[in-house]
Amino acid sequence: MKTQVCIIGGGPAGLLLGHLLHAEGIACVVLERHTAAHILARIRAGVLEQVTVGLMERLGLDARMKAEGLPHGGFNLADGERLIHIDVAALTGKQVMVYGQTEITRDLMDASDERGLQVVYGAQDVALHDIDSDAPYVTYAIEGVRQRVDCRFIAGCDGFHGPSRKAVPARVSKEFERVYPFGWLGILADVAPCNHELIYANHERGFALASMRSATRSRYYIDVPLTEKVEDWPDDRLWDELAIRLGPDAAANMTRGPSIEKSIAPLRSFVFAPMRHGSLLLCGDSAHIVPPTGAKGLNLAASDVHYAAHALTAFFGRNDAEAIGAYSDRALARVWKAERFSWSLTRLMHRFPEDGPFERAMQVAELDYIASSQAAQTSIAENYVGLPV
Ligand code: APR
Ligand code: PHB
Repeated sequence: MKTQVCIIGGGPAGLLLGHLLHAEGIACVVLERHTAAHILARIRAGVLEQVTVGLMERLGLDARMKAEGLPHGGFNLADGERLIHIDVAALTGKQVMVYGQTEITRDLMDASDERGLQVVYGAQDVALHDIDSDAPYVTYAIEGVRQRVDCRFIAGCDGFHGPSRKAVPARVSKEFERVYPFGWLGILADVAPCNHELIYANHERGFALASMRSATRSRYYIDVPLTEKVEDWPDDRLWDELAIRLGPDAAANMTRGPSIEKSIAPLRSFVFAPMRHGSLLLCGDSAHIVPPTGAKGLNLAASDVHYAAHALTAFFGRNDAEAIGAYSDRALARVWKAERFSWSLTRLMHRFPEDGPFERAMQVAELDYIASSQAAQTSIAENYVGLPV
Protein backbone atom coordinates (compact mmCIF):
# COMPACT_ATOMS: atom_id res chain seq x y z
CA MET A 1 0.00 0.00 0.00
CA LYS A 2 1.14 3.57 -0.68
CA THR A 3 -0.03 6.58 1.33
CA GLN A 4 1.20 10.01 2.42
CA VAL A 5 1.17 9.57 6.21
CA CYS A 6 1.24 6.24 8.04
CA ILE A 7 -0.11 6.73 11.57
CA ILE A 8 0.92 4.11 14.13
CA GLY A 9 -1.59 3.81 17.01
CA GLY A 10 -5.36 4.29 17.04
CA GLY A 11 -5.75 5.91 20.46
CA PRO A 12 -7.00 9.49 20.74
CA ALA A 13 -3.78 10.99 19.28
CA GLY A 14 -3.73 8.73 16.19
CA LEU A 15 -7.44 9.04 15.47
CA LEU A 16 -7.48 12.84 15.93
CA LEU A 17 -4.52 13.23 13.59
CA GLY A 18 -6.05 10.82 11.07
CA HIS A 19 -9.30 12.81 10.95
CA LEU A 20 -7.52 16.16 10.62
CA LEU A 21 -5.36 14.92 7.73
CA HIS A 22 -8.29 13.13 6.06
CA ALA A 23 -10.31 16.38 6.22
CA GLU A 24 -7.44 18.16 4.39
CA GLY A 25 -7.40 15.53 1.65
CA ILE A 26 -4.08 14.04 2.82
CA ALA A 27 -3.98 10.26 2.31
CA CYS A 28 -3.33 8.36 5.54
CA VAL A 29 -3.85 5.02 7.24
CA VAL A 30 -3.99 4.26 10.97
CA LEU A 31 -2.42 0.98 12.17
CA GLU A 32 -3.70 -0.18 15.56
CA ARG A 33 -2.54 -3.30 17.38
CA HIS A 34 -5.71 -3.92 19.39
CA THR A 35 -9.42 -4.16 18.60
CA ALA A 36 -11.72 -1.14 18.89
CA ALA A 37 -13.53 -2.83 21.82
CA HIS A 38 -10.24 -3.28 23.70
CA ILE A 39 -9.38 0.42 23.31
CA LEU A 40 -12.84 1.53 24.48
CA ALA A 41 -12.54 -0.59 27.65
CA ARG A 42 -9.72 1.67 28.93
CA ILE A 43 -10.86 4.23 31.50
CA ARG A 44 -8.80 7.40 31.33
CA ALA A 45 -9.09 10.98 32.62
CA GLY A 46 -11.93 13.23 31.62
CA VAL A 47 -11.12 16.95 31.68
CA LEU A 48 -10.76 18.61 28.27
CA GLU A 49 -8.97 21.87 27.57
CA GLN A 50 -10.05 24.29 24.86
CA VAL A 51 -7.42 22.89 22.47
CA THR A 52 -9.07 19.46 22.60
CA VAL A 53 -12.62 20.82 22.44
CA GLY A 54 -11.52 23.08 19.55
CA LEU A 55 -10.16 20.17 17.48
CA MET A 56 -13.42 18.23 17.91
CA GLU A 57 -15.34 21.38 16.86
CA ARG A 58 -13.11 21.86 13.81
CA LEU A 59 -13.84 18.26 12.79
CA GLY A 60 -17.59 18.72 13.33
CA LEU A 61 -17.47 15.93 15.92
CA ASP A 62 -18.51 18.00 18.93
CA ALA A 63 -22.28 17.31 18.99
CA ARG A 64 -22.29 14.55 21.63
CA MET A 65 -19.57 16.28 23.67
CA LYS A 66 -21.65 19.49 23.73
CA ALA A 67 -24.84 17.59 24.62
CA GLU A 68 -23.41 15.27 27.29
CA GLY A 69 -20.26 17.04 28.51
CA LEU A 70 -20.26 19.25 31.61
CA PRO A 71 -18.61 22.67 31.24
CA HIS A 72 -16.75 23.46 34.49
CA GLY A 73 -15.77 27.00 35.45
CA GLY A 74 -13.69 26.01 38.46
CA PHE A 75 -12.27 23.34 40.78
CA ASN A 76 -11.20 22.99 44.40
CA LEU A 77 -8.07 22.27 46.40
CA ALA A 78 -8.76 20.79 49.87
CA ASP A 79 -6.16 20.51 52.61
CA GLY A 80 -8.02 18.75 55.39
CA GLU A 81 -9.31 21.99 56.88
CA ARG A 82 -10.50 24.23 54.11
CA LEU A 83 -11.61 24.19 50.49
CA ILE A 84 -9.75 26.61 48.21
CA HIS A 85 -11.95 27.41 45.24
CA ILE A 86 -10.10 28.19 41.99
CA ASP A 87 -12.58 30.21 39.94
CA VAL A 88 -11.11 29.37 36.54
CA ALA A 89 -13.85 31.17 34.57
CA ALA A 90 -13.53 34.44 36.50
CA LEU A 91 -9.72 34.34 36.47
CA THR A 92 -9.19 33.34 32.82
CA GLY A 93 -12.52 33.87 31.04
CA LYS A 94 -12.34 30.20 29.98
CA GLN A 95 -13.79 26.86 31.03
CA VAL A 96 -12.83 23.20 30.79
CA MET A 97 -15.16 20.45 29.56
CA VAL A 98 -15.71 17.34 31.68
CA TYR A 99 -16.19 14.56 29.12
CA GLY A 100 -14.55 11.13 29.30
CA GLN A 101 -11.56 10.50 27.11
CA THR A 102 -13.10 7.13 26.28
CA GLU A 103 -16.10 9.00 24.83
CA ILE A 104 -13.82 11.19 22.67
CA THR A 105 -12.22 8.01 21.35
CA ARG A 106 -15.66 6.48 20.67
CA ASP A 107 -16.77 9.61 18.76
CA LEU A 108 -13.57 9.50 16.66
CA MET A 109 -13.99 5.76 15.96
CA ASP A 110 -17.65 6.14 14.92
CA ALA A 111 -16.69 8.98 12.59
CA SER A 112 -13.87 7.00 10.95
CA ASP A 113 -16.43 4.53 9.58
CA GLU A 114 -18.71 7.35 8.36
CA ARG A 115 -15.94 9.45 6.83
CA GLY A 116 -13.84 6.72 5.30
CA LEU A 117 -10.75 7.19 7.48
CA GLN A 118 -8.89 3.90 7.07
CA VAL A 119 -8.08 2.26 10.43
CA VAL A 120 -6.54 -1.22 10.46
CA TYR A 121 -7.27 -2.96 13.79
CA GLY A 122 -5.29 -6.03 14.88
CA ALA A 123 -2.07 -4.89 13.13
CA GLN A 124 0.69 -7.12 14.57
CA ASP A 125 4.48 -6.69 14.63
CA VAL A 126 4.42 -3.08 13.43
CA ALA A 127 7.96 -1.99 12.51
CA LEU A 128 9.36 1.30 11.18
CA HIS A 129 11.98 1.39 8.41
CA ASP A 130 14.20 4.06 6.80
CA ILE A 131 12.92 6.92 8.98
CA ASP A 132 16.11 8.86 8.12
CA SER A 133 15.04 8.97 4.47
CA ASP A 134 12.28 10.72 2.48
CA ALA A 135 10.75 7.34 1.69
CA PRO A 136 10.14 5.53 4.97
CA TYR A 137 7.91 2.48 5.21
CA VAL A 138 6.10 0.50 7.85
CA THR A 139 5.64 -3.26 7.95
CA TYR A 140 3.05 -5.22 9.92
CA ALA A 141 1.13 -8.46 9.80
CA ILE A 142 -2.58 -9.19 9.65
CA GLU A 143 -3.49 -12.76 10.55
CA GLY A 144 0.08 -13.79 9.84
CA VAL A 145 0.23 -12.14 6.40
CA ARG A 146 3.01 -9.51 6.01
CA GLN A 147 1.94 -6.08 4.80
CA ARG A 148 3.92 -2.98 3.80
CA VAL A 149 2.92 0.70 3.79
CA ASP A 150 5.15 3.10 1.83
CA CYS A 151 4.71 6.75 2.84
CA ARG A 152 6.34 10.18 3.06
CA PHE A 153 5.91 10.59 6.86
CA ILE A 154 5.24 8.28 9.80
CA ALA A 155 3.30 9.64 12.80
CA GLY A 156 4.18 7.71 15.97
CA CYS A 157 0.96 7.88 18.03
CA ASP A 158 1.49 4.48 19.67
CA GLY A 159 1.60 5.45 23.34
CA PHE A 160 4.34 4.89 25.88
CA HIS A 161 5.02 1.23 24.97
CA GLY A 162 4.82 1.47 21.17
CA PRO A 163 7.70 0.94 18.71
CA SER A 164 7.93 4.50 17.28
CA ARG A 165 9.98 6.22 19.97
CA LYS A 166 12.34 3.22 20.06
CA ALA A 167 13.06 3.72 16.34
CA VAL A 168 14.86 7.02 17.10
CA PRO A 169 18.60 6.36 17.60
CA ALA A 170 19.80 6.84 21.20
CA ARG A 171 22.75 8.98 20.01
CA VAL A 172 20.41 11.77 18.82
CA SER A 173 17.81 11.62 21.60
CA LYS A 174 17.40 12.26 25.29
CA GLU A 175 14.98 10.98 27.94
CA PHE A 176 13.90 12.85 31.07
CA GLU A 177 12.06 10.83 33.69
CA ARG A 178 10.65 11.00 37.20
CA VAL A 179 8.86 7.97 38.66
CA TYR A 180 6.65 8.67 41.70
CA PRO A 181 6.57 6.44 44.79
CA PHE A 182 2.79 5.84 44.63
CA GLY A 183 -0.05 5.03 42.24
CA TRP A 184 -3.65 6.21 41.89
CA LEU A 185 -6.37 3.74 42.80
CA GLY A 186 -9.48 4.78 40.85
CA ILE A 187 -13.11 3.78 41.20
CA LEU A 188 -15.91 4.43 38.70
CA ALA A 189 -19.48 4.13 40.02
CA ASP A 190 -22.98 5.04 38.89
CA VAL A 191 -23.65 7.49 41.70
CA ALA A 192 -24.17 11.26 41.75
CA PRO A 193 -20.95 13.30 42.28
CA CYS A 194 -20.36 14.69 45.81
CA ASN A 195 -19.70 18.19 44.44
CA HIS A 196 -20.57 19.98 41.19
CA GLU A 197 -16.83 20.63 40.65
CA LEU A 198 -13.69 18.52 41.11
CA ILE A 199 -11.96 18.38 44.50
CA TYR A 200 -8.23 17.61 44.78
CA ALA A 201 -7.44 16.85 48.45
CA ASN A 202 -4.15 16.65 50.35
CA HIS A 203 -5.00 14.88 53.63
CA GLU A 204 -2.56 13.56 56.22
CA ARG A 205 -3.56 10.04 55.11
CA GLY A 206 -2.79 10.92 51.49
CA PHE A 207 -4.21 12.32 48.26
CA ALA A 208 -7.82 12.02 47.09
CA LEU A 209 -9.67 13.30 44.02
CA ALA A 210 -13.42 13.57 43.53
CA SER A 211 -14.24 13.71 39.81
CA MET A 212 -17.14 12.74 37.58
CA ARG A 213 -18.24 11.66 34.13
CA SER A 214 -21.86 12.91 34.31
CA ALA A 215 -24.57 13.89 36.81
CA THR A 216 -25.04 10.19 37.58
CA ARG A 217 -21.51 8.75 37.20
CA SER A 218 -18.61 9.54 39.53
CA ARG A 219 -14.88 8.90 39.35
CA TYR A 220 -12.82 8.98 42.54
CA TYR A 221 -9.13 8.34 43.24
CA ILE A 222 -6.79 7.95 46.22
CA ASP A 223 -3.04 7.49 46.14
CA VAL A 224 -1.68 4.17 47.41
CA PRO A 225 1.81 2.68 47.78
CA LEU A 226 2.88 0.80 44.65
CA THR A 227 2.90 -2.44 46.64
CA GLU A 228 -0.92 -2.35 47.07
CA LYS A 229 -3.22 -4.52 44.94
CA VAL A 230 -6.77 -3.73 43.81
CA GLU A 231 -7.90 -6.82 45.78
CA ASP A 232 -6.69 -5.07 48.99
CA TRP A 233 -9.38 -2.44 48.40
CA PRO A 234 -12.93 -3.79 48.53
CA ASP A 235 -15.43 -1.03 47.65
CA ASP A 236 -16.39 -0.33 51.28
CA ARG A 237 -12.80 0.20 52.35
CA LEU A 238 -12.22 2.57 49.44
CA TRP A 239 -15.39 4.61 50.11
CA ASP A 240 -14.41 4.88 53.81
CA GLU A 241 -10.95 6.14 52.89
CA LEU A 242 -12.34 8.64 50.36
CA ALA A 243 -14.73 10.00 53.00
CA ILE A 244 -11.84 10.63 55.39
CA ARG A 245 -9.45 12.15 52.87
CA LEU A 246 -12.00 14.37 51.09
CA GLY A 247 -13.22 15.78 54.41
CA PRO A 248 -16.57 15.93 56.21
CA ASP A 249 -18.42 18.25 53.80
CA ALA A 250 -17.67 16.13 50.73
CA ALA A 251 -18.26 12.94 52.74
CA ALA A 252 -21.72 14.15 53.76
CA ASN A 253 -22.65 14.52 50.06
CA MET A 254 -20.91 11.37 48.84
CA THR A 255 -23.16 8.59 47.55
CA ARG A 256 -21.59 5.12 47.65
CA GLY A 257 -22.27 2.43 45.08
CA PRO A 258 -20.73 -0.69 43.55
CA SER A 259 -17.62 -0.11 41.42
CA ILE A 260 -17.98 -0.58 37.67
CA GLU A 261 -14.22 -0.24 37.29
CA LYS A 262 -11.38 -0.20 39.79
CA SER A 263 -7.69 -0.09 38.93
CA ILE A 264 -4.30 1.20 40.07
CA ALA A 265 -2.19 3.34 37.73
CA PRO A 266 1.45 4.26 38.46
CA LEU A 267 2.48 7.92 38.22
CA ARG A 268 5.30 9.03 35.95
CA SER A 269 6.70 12.19 34.38
CA PHE A 270 8.56 11.48 31.13
CA VAL A 271 9.75 13.53 28.16
CA PHE A 272 11.53 12.29 25.05
CA ALA A 273 13.38 14.74 22.81
CA PRO A 274 13.40 15.46 19.96
CA MET A 275 9.82 14.74 18.94
CA ARG A 276 10.80 14.48 15.27
CA HIS A 277 13.59 12.46 13.70
CA GLY A 278 13.82 12.49 9.92
CA SER A 279 10.42 11.46 8.57
CA LEU A 280 9.04 10.36 11.95
CA LEU A 281 6.90 12.70 14.09
CA LEU A 282 5.98 11.57 17.62
CA CYS A 283 2.64 12.67 19.15
CA GLY A 284 1.05 12.06 22.56
CA ASP A 285 2.10 9.41 25.06
CA SER A 286 4.75 8.02 22.68
CA ALA A 287 6.82 11.13 23.48
CA HIS A 288 5.71 12.15 26.96
CA ILE A 289 3.84 11.07 30.07
CA VAL A 290 2.45 13.31 32.81
CA PRO A 291 1.13 12.24 36.20
CA PRO A 292 -2.68 12.49 36.08
CA THR A 293 -2.87 15.41 38.56
CA GLY A 294 -4.35 18.16 36.37
CA ALA A 295 -5.51 15.75 33.60
CA LYS A 296 -3.04 16.96 30.97
CA GLY A 297 -2.37 13.63 29.15
CA LEU A 298 -5.01 13.74 26.44
CA ASN A 299 -4.81 17.53 26.16
CA LEU A 300 -1.08 17.38 25.44
CA ALA A 301 -1.70 14.70 22.82
CA ALA A 302 -4.25 17.07 21.26
CA SER A 303 -1.80 20.00 21.16
CA ASP A 304 0.91 17.80 19.56
CA VAL A 305 -1.64 16.69 16.96
CA HIS A 306 -2.59 20.33 16.34
CA TYR A 307 1.08 21.20 15.55
CA ALA A 308 1.65 17.99 13.57
CA ALA A 309 -1.49 18.45 11.42
CA HIS A 310 -0.49 22.05 10.73
CA ALA A 311 3.03 20.98 9.72
CA LEU A 312 1.87 18.11 7.48
CA THR A 313 -0.81 20.28 5.85
CA ALA A 314 1.78 22.97 5.02
CA PHE A 315 4.10 20.31 3.62
CA PHE A 316 1.59 18.56 1.37
CA GLY A 317 -0.51 21.64 0.54
CA ARG A 318 2.18 24.27 -0.13
CA ASN A 319 5.37 22.24 -0.30
CA ASP A 320 6.46 24.18 2.80
CA ALA A 321 8.72 22.16 5.12
CA GLU A 322 9.37 24.94 7.68
CA ALA A 323 6.72 23.73 10.14
CA ILE A 324 7.96 20.13 9.90
CA GLY A 325 11.42 21.40 10.88
CA ALA A 326 9.93 23.41 13.77
CA TYR A 327 7.52 20.69 14.98
CA SER A 328 9.65 19.27 17.78
CA ASP A 329 10.57 22.64 19.31
CA ARG A 330 6.99 23.94 19.08
CA ALA A 331 5.47 20.83 20.63
CA LEU A 332 8.12 20.50 23.35
CA ALA A 333 7.74 24.14 24.44
CA ARG A 334 4.14 23.39 25.42
CA VAL A 335 4.91 19.88 26.70
CA TRP A 336 7.48 21.16 29.20
CA LYS A 337 5.05 23.73 30.63
CA ALA A 338 2.38 21.07 31.11
CA GLU A 339 5.00 18.74 32.63
CA ARG A 340 5.92 21.52 35.08
CA PHE A 341 2.29 22.11 36.05
CA SER A 342 1.45 18.41 36.47
CA TRP A 343 4.60 17.83 38.50
CA SER A 344 4.03 20.87 40.76
CA LEU A 345 0.35 20.00 41.41
CA THR A 346 1.43 16.42 42.20
CA ARG A 347 4.14 17.74 44.56
CA LEU A 348 1.65 20.06 46.28
CA MET A 349 -1.19 17.59 46.76
CA HIS A 350 0.57 14.30 47.72
CA ARG A 351 2.41 13.17 50.87
CA PHE A 352 5.72 11.77 49.58
CA PRO A 353 7.20 9.00 51.75
CA GLU A 354 10.60 10.75 51.79
CA ASP A 355 9.14 14.10 52.96
CA GLY A 356 9.94 15.42 56.42
CA PRO A 357 8.46 18.31 58.44
CA PHE A 358 10.16 20.91 56.23
CA GLU A 359 8.58 19.63 53.01
CA ARG A 360 5.19 19.45 54.71
CA ALA A 361 5.59 23.04 55.97
CA MET A 362 6.34 24.09 52.37
CA GLN A 363 3.07 22.49 51.22
CA VAL A 364 1.11 24.29 53.95
CA ALA A 365 2.79 27.60 53.11
CA GLU A 366 2.05 27.16 49.40
CA LEU A 367 -1.60 26.29 50.03
CA ASP A 368 -1.86 29.33 52.35
CA TYR A 369 -0.34 31.50 49.64
CA ILE A 370 -2.72 30.15 47.00
CA ALA A 371 -5.72 30.67 49.32
CA SER A 372 -4.79 34.33 49.86
CA SER A 373 -3.41 35.44 46.49
CA GLN A 374 -5.37 36.10 43.33
CA ALA A 375 -2.08 36.12 41.40
CA ALA A 376 -1.32 32.57 42.59
CA GLN A 377 -4.86 31.42 41.77
CA THR A 378 -4.61 32.97 38.29
CA SER A 379 -1.37 31.10 37.64
CA ILE A 380 -2.99 27.78 38.60
CA ALA A 381 -6.18 28.58 36.68
CA GLU A 382 -4.43 29.47 33.41
CA ASN A 383 -2.40 26.28 33.51
CA TYR A 384 -5.41 24.14 34.45
CA VAL A 385 -7.57 25.53 31.64
CA GLY A 386 -4.66 25.04 29.21
CA LEU A 387 -1.91 27.34 27.95
CA PRO A 388 -2.33 28.69 24.40
CA VAL A 389 -1.17 26.55 21.45
N1 APR B 1 1.33 -1.25 16.93
C1 APR B 1 0.15 -0.59 16.71
N2 APR B 1 -0.46 0.14 17.65
C2 APR B 1 0.14 0.20 18.87
C3 APR B 1 1.36 -0.44 19.14
C4 APR B 1 1.96 -1.20 18.12
N3 APR B 1 3.09 -1.88 18.32
N4 APR B 1 1.70 -0.19 20.42
C5 APR B 1 0.73 0.58 20.92
N5 APR B 1 -0.22 0.81 19.99
C6 APR B 1 -1.48 1.54 20.15
C7 APR B 1 -2.15 1.20 21.48
O1 APR B 1 -2.86 -0.03 21.40
C8 APR B 1 -3.06 2.39 21.68
O2 APR B 1 -4.35 2.19 21.16
O3 APR B 1 -1.26 2.92 20.22
C9 APR B 1 -2.36 3.51 20.91
C10 APR B 1 -1.82 4.58 21.84
O4 APR B 1 -2.90 5.18 22.50
P1 APR B 1 -2.77 5.84 23.93
O5 APR B 1 -1.93 5.00 24.81
O6 APR B 1 -4.15 6.18 24.39
O7 APR B 1 -1.92 7.18 23.67
P2 APR B 1 -2.31 8.53 22.93
O8 APR B 1 -3.19 8.30 21.76
O9 APR B 1 -1.02 9.26 22.77
O10 APR B 1 -3.20 9.26 23.98
C11 APR B 1 -2.69 10.17 24.88
O11 APR B 1 -4.66 9.49 25.94
O12 APR B 1 -4.48 7.22 26.18
C12 APR B 1 -4.42 8.39 26.86
O13 APR B 1 -3.08 8.26 28.82
C13 APR B 1 -3.14 8.69 27.50
O14 APR B 1 -4.03 10.66 28.28
C14 APR B 1 -3.13 10.13 27.35
C15 APR B 1 -3.64 10.38 25.99
C1 PHB C 1 -10.81 11.92 35.96
O1 PHB C 1 -11.99 12.34 35.96
O2 PHB C 1 -10.56 10.73 35.70
C2 PHB C 1 -9.70 12.85 36.29
C3 PHB C 1 -9.98 14.18 36.50
C4 PHB C 1 -8.96 15.05 36.82
C5 PHB C 1 -7.67 14.58 36.94
C6 PHB C 1 -7.39 13.25 36.70
C7 PHB C 1 -8.40 12.37 36.38
O3 PHB C 1 -6.68 15.44 37.28
